[in-house]
Amino acid sequence: MSWDPTQYLAFGGHRIRPALDLIAAVPLAAPATIVDLGCGTGNTTEALMARWPEAAVTGVDNSPEMLARAKEAYPEADWQQADFADWAPAAPVELLYSNAALHWLTGHGELFPRLALCVAPGGVLAVQMPRNWEAPSHALLYDVARAGPWREILAPMIREHPTMPPDYYYDLLAPLAGELDIWEVEYLQVLEGDNPVAEFVKGSWLKPFLDALEDPIRSEFETEYRARILAAYPPQPDGKTLFPFRRLFIVATV
Ligand SMILES: C[S@@+](CC[C@H](N)C(=O)[O-])C[C@H]1O[C@@H](n2cnc3c(N)ncnc32)[C@H](O)[C@@H]1O
Repeated sequence: MSWDPTQYLAFGGHRIRPALDLIAAVPLAAPATIVDLGCGTGNTTEALMARWPEAAVTGVDNSPEMLARAKEAYPEADWQQADFADWAPAAPVELLYSNAALHWLTGHGELFPRLALCVAPGGVLAVQMPRNWEAPSHALLYDVARAGPWREILAPMIREHPTMPPDYYYDLLAPLAGELDIWEVEYLQVLEGDNPVAEFVKGSWLKPFLDALEDPIRSEFETEYRARILAAYPPQPDGKTLFPFRRLFIVATV
C-alpha cells in the first residue's frame, strides 16, 4: 500500500507513546545492533537511537514515501528498503524491534518464529501491534465496506483479525524464548478536531480501502464511513473525542 506520512503523523503523539512504552520494556543495557522493522517515518528509529546512542541502528521499511520522510528527518541513520515478508539480517541482531507494523502482514505463524531466529542469543524481539479490530473504528469500516456499491472491490480486502490473541503468540514463541513477556494495554486517546477518529484511521487502516476506489464512489464510501464514525465517537462536552485503543505487546528474550 502507499502511505501518506503527513496524515500518519497528524496523531504522532498518540502513535509514538506505545513505541516508547515498548522501548522501556526491553531488558537490554547496551545492544550493539538494532533493527527497527517497519520503521515508517523514522520516529521510532530516532527513539531507539536516543535510548541506545552507541548502537548501530537500521530502519527497514518497504514504503518509499515513509523512507523518504525518514531519510530527510534523520540522515545519520541507516535505512533499508525491504519487505519483511522475506527480510533477513546479514547477521543476527541484538534487538529486533517493531512498532505498529507486523499486523500489515498475514502468516504470523511463520513470521514470528522466523523473526525470533534472526535475533542473537541473549537478544530481544520486541513487538507492538494494534488489537483494536472489534472496536467501532475498525468494525464499522468493514460494515461499510461490505454494504455499498464498492462491495465487490472492498470485501475481499477485509482481514477481521490481523493480530491474533496473546496466547497465540505465546505458543509460537515460548519454544524459542528464554523469557517471554506478553501484555495488552488500552490507551484512552483524547483526540481534538473534527471527526478525529476518522482522521486517525485514515492515516493507516482506512487508506488502502480508499486507494482501491475511484471518485465518485471513493468519496461516497468515505462520507458514509465518516458519518458512522462520528455517530460512534461523538465529541465530549469539552469538544474532545475519546478513542480507546487496545494494543498488544510482546518482548521475547531468546
Ligand atoms: C503504522 S506504520 C508504523 C511506523 C513506525 N514503526 C511507527 O511506529 O511510527 C507501519 C509501517 O510498516 C510498513 N510496512 C507494512 N508492511 C510492510 C512490509 N511487508 N514490509 C516492510 N514494511 C512494511 C509500512 O510501510 C509503514 O511504514
